[in-house]
Amino acid sequence: MINYSSKLPPLGTSIFAVMSKLAKDHDAINLGQGFPDFEISPKLKNLVSKYVQEGKNQYAPMPGLHQLRETLSKKYNTAYGSNINPGKEITIHSGATQAIFTTIMAFVNQNDEVIIIEPAYDCYLPTIALAKAKPISIPVTAPHYKIDWDQVQDKITNNTKMIIINNPHNPIGKILASEDLLALQEIVKDKNILILSDEVYEHLIYDGKQHQSVLAYPQLAEQSVAVYSFGKTFHATGWKMGYSIAPEHLMKEIRNIHQWNVFSVNSFLQYALDDFLQDPEEYHQLPQFYQRKRDLFQEALSQCKLRPIHSAGTYFQLYDYSEISDLTDINFSKWLVSEHGVATIPISPFYSNGNTDKVVRFCFAKDDRTLMLAANKLSAI
Ligand SMILES: Cc1ncc(COP(=O)(O)O)c(C=O)c1O
Repeated sequence: MINYSSKLPPLGTSIFAVMSKLAKDHDAINLGQGFPDFEISPKLKNLVSKYVQEGKNQYAPMPGLHQLRETLSKKYNTAYGSNINPGKEITIHSGATQAIFTTIMAFVNQNDEVIIIEPAYDCYLPTIALAKAKPISIPVTAPHYKIDWDQVQDKITNNTKMIIINNPHNPIGKILASEDLLALQEIVKDKNILILSDEVYEHLIYDGKQHQSVLAYPQLAEQSVAVYSFGKTFHATGWKMGYSIAPEHLMKEIRNIHQWNVFSVNSFLQYALDDFLQDPEEYHQLPQFYQRKRDLFQEALSQCKLRPIHSAGTYFQLYDYSEISDLTDINFSKWLVSEHGVATIPISPFYSNGNTDKVVRFCFAKDDRTLMLAANKLSAI
């Protein structure tokens, strides 16, 4: 028996594992965990096979395939008028999670403070803990989930090293406006504070709105690391392929950690993704594709007692269940899956100090048939 002490505080089983097991046990429709239940593009599938057959099966360069980084730099420079250098300012990672982990490990030291907006995606807190830093949580709550930038300003101390933002936001489905980015830019101006901008849902933005990336704000971009996920964009969450974009002096240190962590990531997928990205329509059509699903599900629930909270981005939508039940969100989710056969995700586990809002998260990245079956079950409550 080997003695060891965990570097992480006891966090228990993740809510995703709990709800997915319950979904299985009850043979329920799983609108909990965030992954598409439909196929990826046949063209992309063929490209993957093609590059495996062509023998692109050996180590890729440490920062990623150069031609893929060039394609990505063109994508962002066209979108935001930026001047991202593919050689020095983009790194391909094993999913956004590894990009986030690497960025926090690269820059956050013991006793530094990291400001996070809660509810927060679940990998931020454990990574901050591994860096022996202190998370400073700013909760936002139902129904508007607005970030109070004065509150963010008030939390800044000499120890603040990083602010993590997630835009569009999982689990709340909100997007930041230009005013938000400008407020953030003002807060960190001339300060030694880094922004980690988790933009994995950059293309999942609805109702004709534009994604506000940190990359579109030159002053902010100078102090930011932006993180993306091919898994989210191309319906392939199991591929765990992502990338980070940051100014050269920051990217140097990110790569310093990256090379001793994974060195380089999957080679044939990088060739396939580069080829696939040559047609921007593959991601430009995503807002229309997912907005139709959001609206289909919401319309199908119109006679139900669940009340929608507007989803402006991501493939998630929160629904308020207070007309149905007084249970806590965790107990309500357990009841819903066991009694009505639909799995959701409660929101309180995304807050470090809990939360009492009566809302749960549904994932609408599902086949239309799955969404309609779930809506029928929910409408019967
Ligand atoms: C907000 C957010 N960030 C990061 C990730 C992780 O992305 P990846 O699967 O590429 O590691 C997810 C996945 O659910 C997410 O929702």
